[in-house]
Amino acid sequence: VVLSIVSCVIAYLLGSVSFSYILTRLIKKVDIRQYGSGNAGATNTARVLGTGPAIFVLILDILKGIVAVLIALAFHLSDWGVALSGLCAILGHVWPIYFGFKGGKGVATTIAVFLMLMWLPTLIAAIIALLLIALTRYISLGSLAFILTPIIALFLGGYPMSHIIVSAVIALLIIWKHRSNIKRLVQGNENKFGSKAKEL
Ligand code: G3P
Repeated sequence: VVLSIVSCVIAYLLGSVSFSYILTRLIKKVDIRQYGSGNAGATNTARVLGTGPAIFVLILDILKGIVAVLIALAFHLSDWGVALSGLCAILGHVWPIYFGFKGGKGVATTIAVFLMLMWLPTLIAAIIALLLIALTRYISLGSLAFILTPIIALFLGGYPMSHIIVSAVIALLIIWKHRSNIKRLVQGNENKFGSKAKEL
């Protein structure tokens, strides 16, 4: 239990490193949370800095999630310990301790955690998400499709209950974080990929 708590704290601190914030601060000397959707994530980095830096942010945000789960695995934690460490990395990304608890929507870090917990359902959900994004140019719609992962895992079977339950909690968190996106999607005025960032 002690090791699980240590692993969760490390994961949270790691998840809290907001690469979109750091990169936009370094390159443009602005706070990404004042621009575009106001979200500290890869999608909004594309609006503020362009696609190249956004991909870089996406990779780094994915990597921090992978490292968090790898640390939990190195500690030889139970399935629950590993899954909860992944959740804590996402909590760090969404509510970062270093940046006033105002971070991103958790998608990039969730990609990492889902991949580490159940790679096949993640891959299937990612393909669905990418197809939707290619068709609609709504990254948020792809993000919402991606959280079908636990349902696909349940359908395929053979995954630990801990992984299914924790990833379902992550899915609910992501839906909640996307509530303004969902509203815009329904109203038909969600930002399409490739649009520029306006100051808020
Ligand atoms: O990963 C976040 C994405 O789904 C939506 O981002 O900036 O359009 O709210 P954004």
